[in-house]
Amino acid sequence: MKIELQNKKVFIKNQGLKKEIHPFWFRERVNGNDYIDKTTQQRLFDPTKLERNIKIDFLNLSKDFLEVTFDDGAYTKLAIQNILKEFQNIDDLEYIEKVQWDSSFNKSNNFRFTENFSEKEEMYKALINFYKYGFVIFNNVPTQNNYIINFANSIGSIRRTNFGEFFNVKSKPNPNDLAYTSLALAPHTDNPYRKPVPCIQMLHCIENKVNGGLSTLVDGFTVTEKLKKDFPNYYKILTEVKVRFQFIDQTVVLEDWSEIIKLNEKGKFKQVRFSPRLDFVPGMEIDKLEIYYTAREKISELYSSENYKLQFKLEPGDLLMIDNYRLLHGRTSYNANEGERFLQGCYIDYDSTEGKLNHLRRKFNL
Ligand SMILES: [Fe+2]
Repeated sequence: MKIELQNKKVFIKNQGLKKEIHPFWFRERVNGNDYIDKTTQQRLFDPTKLERNIKIDFLNLSKDFLEVTFDDGAYTKLAIQNILKEFQNIDDLEYIEKVQWDSSFNKSNNFRFTENFSEKEEMYKALINFYKYGFVIFNNVPTQNNYIINFANSIGSIRRTNFGEFFNVKSKPNPNDLAYTSLALAPHTDNPYRKPVPCIQMLHCIENKVNGGLSTLVDGFTVTEKLKKDFPNYYKILTEVKVRFQFIDQTVVLEDWSEIIKLNEKGKFKQVRFSPRLDFVPGMEIDKLEIYYTAREKISELYSSENYKLQFKLEPGDLLMIDNYRLLHGRTSYNANEGERFLQGCYIDYDSTEGKLNHLRRKFNL
């Protein structure tokens, strides 16, 4: 990809194809102090109020920069690299390749929390790992005074739900969710009934004195790719049929419809929602339902298989951050009479982690 000039016009050349760049595209990128607020990088002018037929008066192309002067007197100097980047139309995060993993995962994915951690380069490394593997564990996070709130808000903003700003996971009488019992929880994603589903879950271990109650994680991305390869007809139906997910308690009725495996606009894996205690497939023809049920059974079998599952004990101070669109989580059962098992949880959304990652990349020039 390269930039070329001809007769006061700017062209972009890519794989033998040469196309003109709209002069207005440059005009709305004019970036001098009279046009852009230095601090916020927001425009001081409204491009929808500008003359659309703006003409380029003068162009100068050097190795790294393009200078443009317009017939309304505006001038700008743009880095070639930035122009090309915008034409590539690639989300920054797509550069971080998702690494599929299974039960043989043995990378170190723990980061030791220290004061002001969210502003350190270590946080950048942790977030890169989060996007690579779909989870990361912080150790030594203070356990007093609901510190999870401070931690979550140091990355972005807590996503409050009807469970509150954060929730306490321990067995309690008359629970409104099975999470608040000592029963085993099969791999699932959280809150598939919300619009939008919370992107990221944090689980902070405050106390864990029981022998069971191990945390489990499964890479939904790995399992989806396996299903696609070995059982394409099951993959197809789970990416096509929208099911209704539902949560009901005394004060609220929440519902959302989605495919169990959701693909992005490029047909690649985007999200899994799996919580077979909360899903309701619509009435369909008997043959189609038969395939759907077999497919759901197969994916459930894969999620529960020892081949894909990571199982570990969270110690007090450990804070597990999970991509709720990609990973499934669960726990083994425990005996509440052995001692206390107490986790605190909360949600944040992708804008928090992406915003922090981009900020730290800028700050440390990475
Ligand atoms: Fe959960």
